[in-house]
Amino acid sequence: MFDINRIRKDFPMFENNPELVYLDNAATSFKPQCVIDAVTGFYTRYTSNIHRGDYDISYKVSKEYEDTRKTVAELINAEDPLDIVFTSGASEGLNLVAYGYGLRHLRKGDVILLTLSEHASDILPWFDVAKKTGARIEYIPLKGSGMFDLEAYSKLLEENDVKIVALPYVSNVLGYINPIKDICTLAHKKGAIVSVDGAQGVPHLKIDVRADGIDLMSFSSHKMLGPSGVGVLYGKKEILEKIDPLKMGGGANARFNKEGEIILKEIPARFEAGTPNIEGVLGLKKACEYLMGLGMENVEAHDRELTEYMEKRLSQLPDVHIYNKGSQCSIIAFNVEGIFAQDVGSYLNSLHIAVRTGNHCAKVLHNVIGATETVRASVYLYNSREDIDALYDALKDITLEKCIGALI
Ligand code: ALA
Repeated sequence: MFDINRIRKDFPMFENNPELVYLDNAATSFKPQCVIDAVTGFYTRYTSNIHRGDYDISYKVSKEYEDTRKTVAELINAEDPLDIVFTSGASEGLNLVAYGYGLRHLRKGDVILLTLSEHASDILPWFDVAKKTGARIEYIPLKGSGMFDLEAYSKLLEENDVKIVALPYVSNVLGYINPIKDICTLAHKKGAIVSVDGAQGVPHLKIDVRADGIDLMSFSSHKMLGPSGVGVLYGKKEILEKIDPLKMGGGANARFNKEGEIILKEIPARFEAGTPNIEGVLGLKKACEYLMGLGMENVEAHDRELTEYMEKRLSQLPDVHIYNKGSQCSIIAFNVEGIFAQDVGSYLNSLHIAVRTGNHCAKVLHNVIGATETVRASVYLYNSREDIDALYDALKDITLEKCIGALI
């Protein structure tokens, strides 16, 4: 296991906020110094555009930008760095799949399978695409407290003309890891493709897209130690070939003429029109290197152990109701008897503990867990048992009066 105290020294946020107990990592993560240096280095030492300048600093930045595809490919074991498309974040990747693939290939009567644990970014684009194409959305039933039901999924695949399965690797509210390999195997037998929302999975798990058989996976840099405003769509080459770009512009076309004939560049450039978030991509490279330096298997083991510890500690509090018992990845969602989630959040904030409260953008999940709002505490590689103990101590003493006091 790795050394938390040493790790925390890499993150200036801790030095600058000595009292803060940060348990909102599912929303975004802190950045290590190497990522910050990569971003500021771009601004202070070699600001230039990529693929457009015939001079040294542009060559250097272009190479770093392209090399980042190799680093990301290594992190998730993609076959080819050119299977890595840079986006503005997981939401853009998921929209690119829904609109770029869905509008082109879906027909009336085709079925899109989703789960009720979907984040808005993986459900709203499909609502719109279904409306525009006449395709139909079916929800894969979740069992127990929201776990994936392989049997029900298998039945849905048998009974419907499923073309797309879109679901998260890890639910952003429940922290359950979906059995992605089995999901892909079963989908492929029926000729469907699988689009994975990897936003909560890639930061915490050792993911092997080839072993899993994933067709498409979108994720964000900012949740995995990298800068905001940049993300990745990974895709198998033959599937990426079937996706229409959402934006046209410089950098994405090989040539065009006044008659409107356009020859697009090869993949991935055809999806990256316009000057991209260059510094974000350079920072993402350092974030991936940092994660691989620690070892994703170690990150996964640490985060899982801490999640189990959080569940164990909070389960000792009779007024705390946990919605996702058996969470495997980073997140515990709970409520305190008789107190609104937001009031709990404000009270915790008064004790310098940061959590997220509300519906966490998963606005149809209440159909499964029976609560529209929860408190969500989520850990990452720099959190320790002391952070969880601080949360426990705060919740042990919580009262409605204290929460109201924290608000005024
Ligand atoms: N998608 C992020 C979350 O779940 C912002 O909090």
